[in-house]
Amino acid sequence: MKYFTLFLGYPIWHGQAPKIISTFLESGDFVGKTIVPFCTSGSSPIGSSAANLHALAPSSRWLDGRRFSGSTSQNAVARWVNGLELTGKTANTTEGDDPILNITVNGTTLTAALADNSSARALAEL
Ligand SMILES: Cc1cc2nc3c(=O)[nH]c(=O)nc-3n(C[C@H](O)[C@H](O)[C@H](O)COP(=O)(O)O)c2cc1C
Repeated sequence: MKYFTLFLGYPIWHGQAPKIISTFLESGDFVGKTIVPFCTSGSSPIGSSAANLHALAPSSRWLDGRRFSGSTSQNAVARWVNGLELTGKTANTTEGDDPILNITVNGTTLTAALADNSSARALAEL
């Protein structure tokens, strides 16, 4: 999957995300991806829904979730997005690059996700 960050939006149904969101996470490989969960609801908070989804993609970089209601303003959404610590994309990378390292040792290839720190970013820029 050629992206770094996934905004995972869902409605709250009976306090949780709909099952199809779980199915989506279970059927993909999100190693090293940043996942930003957000939900809409009539009144319920995001509650345990995001933590339960995180458990299905434990190798992702999971940001705190946020709940929106029908009265959330566009500005509030923009402030939220702009305040997120989205990383994995550096000045020298282009759309489609992947923040995953493939390390081959004696014919066995291991994948490693770059950590969110200055050393990893410097390596990625090389
Ligand atoms: C089956 C079902 C269960 C729902 N359960 C909740 C709930 O537990 N708490 C809540 O605040 N809203 C609940 N809602 C309202 C939805 O969260 C709300 O309709 C949705 O976030 C808005 O997106 P929509 O326009 O796609 O429906 C439920 C809606 C449906 C259809």
